[in-house]
Amino acid sequence: MSDALSLETVGLTKRFGAFTALDAVSIKVRAGSLHALLGENGAGKSTLVKCVMGYYHADDGDVLIGDRGQEIGSPRAAAALGLGMVYQHFTLVPNMSVAENLLLASGKVPAVVDWKAERAKMTRFMDSMPFRVPLDRPISALAIGEKQKVEILKQLYLDRRLLILDEPTSVLTPDEADEVLGFLRGLVDQGRLTIVMISHKLREIYAYAEEVSVLRQGKLVGAGRTADLAAPELTRMMVGVETLAQPAARAPKPAGDVVLDASGLVAADDRGRRALDGASLAVRAGEILGLAGVSGNGQRELVEILAGQRDPEAGAVKVHGERYAADRAAARKHKVVCLPEEPLKNASVPTMSVAENLALRRFDLAPMARGPWLSDGAIRRAAEKLIGEYRIRTRSPATPIAELSGGNVQRTVLARDLSEEIDLLVVANPCFGLDVKATAEIRAALVAQRNKGAAILLVSEDLDEILELSDRVAVIASGKIAYEAPIAAADRQEIGKRMVAH
Ligand SMILES: Nc1ncnc2c1ncn2[C@@H]1O[C@H](COP(=O)(O)OP(=O)(O)OP(=O)(O)O)[C@@H](O)[C@H]1O
Ligand SMILES: [Mg+2]
Repeated sequence: MSDALSLETVGLTKRFGAFTALDAVSIKVRAGSLHALLGENGAGKSTLVKCVMGYYHADDGDVLIGDRGQEIGSPRAAAALGLGMVYQHFTLVPNMSVAENLLLASGKVPAVVDWKAERAKMTRFMDSMPFRVPLDRPISALAIGEKQKVEILKQLYLDRRLLILDEPTSVLTPDEADEVLGFLRGLVDQGRLTIVMISHKLREIYAYAEEVSVLRQGKLVGAGRTADLAAPELTRMMVGVETLAQPAARAPKPAGDVVLDASGLVAADDRGRRALDGASLAVRAGEILGLAGVSGNGQRELVEILAGQRDPEAGAVKVHGERYAADRAAARKHKVVCLPEEPLKNASVPTMSVAENLALRRFDLAPMARGPWLSDGAIRRAAEKLIGEYRIRTRSPATPIAELSGGNVQRTVLARDLSEEIDLLVVANPCFGLDVKATAEIRAALVAQRNKGAAILLVSEDLDEILELSDRVAVIASGKIAYEAPIAAADRQEIGKRMVAH
């Protein structure tokens, strides 16, 4: 017997005010298949699946689940039908444990929780999963990849029959992605589950999905079997071009003076556990140092220290040979820019407009500020320029940034920060959530900054990205630098080994 549910949308249309985000979209997802939903940033992918889940109400069109028309009024109604979704942004309660989050997700919290029985059930469930997360750990203490795994585990715990995953692997390493998707593929093959997966990663789409539907500017522009679609054709369907921007070659000039010099950094994570354990590294002008590592090995704390969001317990950070205070004044003086992960949360003000967010770094400088007043005209003009250059899809500069698609939030933050004059750039996973075209463009922008003489610390869980862009490679494991080599001497297998050795 098959438990998996089919899904069909017929002429689904969704407008936000005068803007049509979905324009009569009809897709068919067979029961017991893994179907990829593709398209560039802002194409309408998240909007489509949110309509299916009853999170948004479509203005027109129908949703069929298991061949029956359904009026799905809310995510709760969707859940009752066996539908679950992992959203593009985290939905976990940060100061509760993994176990508490699993319990909350069921939606039926009894007045008195029989923790012993619940624990036994959860432990049995966790033991049956190939990837695990400690049940007692608070969500806030998890690395970003672990949080994503909890989101997926939560849905599996609830025994869904149709699971929608909105960019489930954008924060996972390729190995983690294979572990998760391989397991989900197995459930699909057993006929227990149908999966709709939104992804920008061609490798995954070809490895795990049998069929695709492609959206562009709110319309369905193509669909078919992955076996029948070659990669250039798929790329063209998604972003309108067959070949992508290649990063300019790294100009072959020797690196300059040391710009960032971090030595002996020691810091605790949010649970008080030692996350950085004497890490030292230096980055010179005109070079990209790629820092590889499995998430949760101290990268986050390192970036937070450099961004001035965390004080080290020991060690020192110097920029241009001077002790670096990591506050706004020091960052401006030394031309330091830090780009953290989760930009909507960490690097933007969700309720402010795109234009205001683009001006965040400069709002107190001329010409944005005239005495105590901000110049709306100057802010708007500067924003329009960046929106054009970085092709940010927004209805207007005045749109609140929280209304942008995930990839366009990322583009906004990158546009703001990469348009600065930069001596030191610290970036963490800059291409998470970007479509293939934007990924190529951002990588090209990083190399261009490096060629102009910026020192770049590229923290990334994507080893391919590191090997493609870096002049030197280092590995962080258990809070220490476990490996360092110039790119010409860097050995992929050795790096992989050092990443997991403790
Ligand atoms: N709540 C909202 N209010 C207004 N406009 C919205 C809202 N949600 C989405 N939009 C707009 O609808 C369009 C489609 O957004 P959507 O989030 O569906 O894109 P996406 O294909 O998921 O992109 P990404 O790959 O960047 O996640 C975008 O132009 C976005 O700005
Ligand atoms: Mg989206």
